[in-house]
Amino acid sequence: MNAPTENVNVNLHPNVTVSARASAANRRIERTLNGVVRGYDALMGKLGLGGRKAPYDDHAYEFVGGARDELRAKHYDKSLRLLWKAEREMPWSTFHDCSAEEQTLMQLADDALNAAERAQMQRIGSAEYKALLDRSYTREEKEAIVQVLSAIGHGEAYAWLVSTEVLMNVKSTGAKAALTMQVLEEAKHFVVLRELLRAFDVPVPRQSVWEYLLLEQVYKARGLEKLFGMNVLVEGIALSLFGMLGDRPGLEVLGLFHLDESRHTALPINYLKEFPLTRWQSRNPLSRVHRLSLVLPTLPLVFLLEEPLARLGIDSFALGGSVLRKVGYLAERAGFDLAIDAHQLASSVNWVFNAYAKRTRAGHVWSDYHLADTTVGSALKEVEREIFAA
Ligand SMILES: [Fe+2]
Ligand SMILES: [Fe+2]
Repeated sequence: MNAPTENVNVNLHPNVTVSARASAANRRIERTLNGVVRGYDALMGKLGLGGRKAPYDDHAYEFVGGARDELRAKHYDKSLRLLWKAEREMPWSTFHDCSAEEQTLMQLADDALNAAERAQMQRIGSAEYKALLDRSYTREEKEAIVQVLSAIGHGEAYAWLVSTEVLMNVKSTGAKAALTMQVLEEAKHFVVLRELLRAFDVPVPRQSVWEYLLLEQVYKARGLEKLFGMNVLVEGIALSLFGMLGDRPGLEVLGLFHLDESRHTALPINYLKEFPLTRWQSRNPLSRVHRLSLVLPTLPLVFLLEEPLARLGIDSFALGGSVLRKVGYLAERAGFDLAIDAHQLASSVNWVFNAYAKRTRAGHVWSDYHLADTTVGSALKEVEREIFAA
C-alpha cells in the first residue's frame, strides 16, 4: 500500500490544500510526454510525413512567421476603425448589427438635427427606400444596376470562401489578423449587398459563365495564387464597380464597400513585402499562363456588360480599360508576373476593345480606354489615389 500523499497547504489560498508531491509528479509527466510528442511531431515534420498541423509557435506566442505588426496595423486595426454597420447605413434593411451605444449615438445625432436637416437625413424604411429607387431609376435602369452589381454580389460569396482559405495559407500573426478581418468583411458584403439588390424588386440574374469560370478558377487556385486571383483581380474589378456606382441615389453605401475593397486589394502588396514570392513563384511559366488565363474571362464579361452599362450611361470598354490597368499595376507591385508587363497588358486590352468596337459600333473612333478612369466623386477617387499613387 502506498504511503498516504502528504497534503501541503502551500498558502495559495487558505481554503484549498494541494499535494506538493502530486503537483510535482504532474509536472514531470507533462514534461516527459511533451518531449515525446513534440519530438515525434518535429521529426515527422522534417520527414514531410505530417507533424504539427497548426502553423503556430506557442513558445513565441505567435503564429509561424512572427508578429508582423505593420500588417496587423494596416489591415486588422484599420478594418476595425472603419468597421461599418448595415443598420446605420441602410436603416431600411433587416440588419440589427448596431450596439446599444451606437443606437443611442444615432438617436442623439437625430435629435440634434433641425427640421430641414431631419427631412434630408430621415432614416428611411424599406418601403421608402424602394420608393426612392423607383423615383430615381426606370425599370430598365434598375435591371441594369442589378445585373452589373450581381456580378460582384456572386463574387462576394467566393471572396468569403477564398479569404477563409487564404487565412490558412498566410504566415504570421499580423497577416492572420488581417485575413480574419477580410473574412468578416466579405461575409458582411455578401449578405448586405444581397439585401440591397433584392430591394430593387427585379430578378437577380445567375452568374454569367464568364464569372463562373473566373471565380471557380480563383477558388481552385493553389496557395498564394489565390491572392492574385481574388485580391488583385476579382477585388480589383469590385473596387472599380463600387467606385463607378457609389455616387448614385440609394447606392451611397457602396462607398463603404469600396473602402473595404481598397484595403483588400492592397493586401497582397503589403503581405508580399514581408514574405516575398520566390523568383520561381513569381515568374515560372505555368503560373504566368495561369494568371493570364484568369484575366482572360474578364474580356467577354466586359462585352456581356456592354448593354446594361450603356443603359446607365457608362462605356463598358472604359470600365474594362480602367479595371485592367489597375489590375496590372497591383499584380506588378505584388510580384505576380503576368508574362506581359502592366503597360503591355493595358495597351493590348485597349487594342482588343477598339477592334471589337470598330466591328460592332457604327462610327467608332479609336479611343484610349486603357487611360480611362470610371471611378466617380472626389472621396472615392481619393481612396484609390492612396493605392495607385505611383
Ligand atoms: Fe467584398
Ligand atoms: Fe473584398
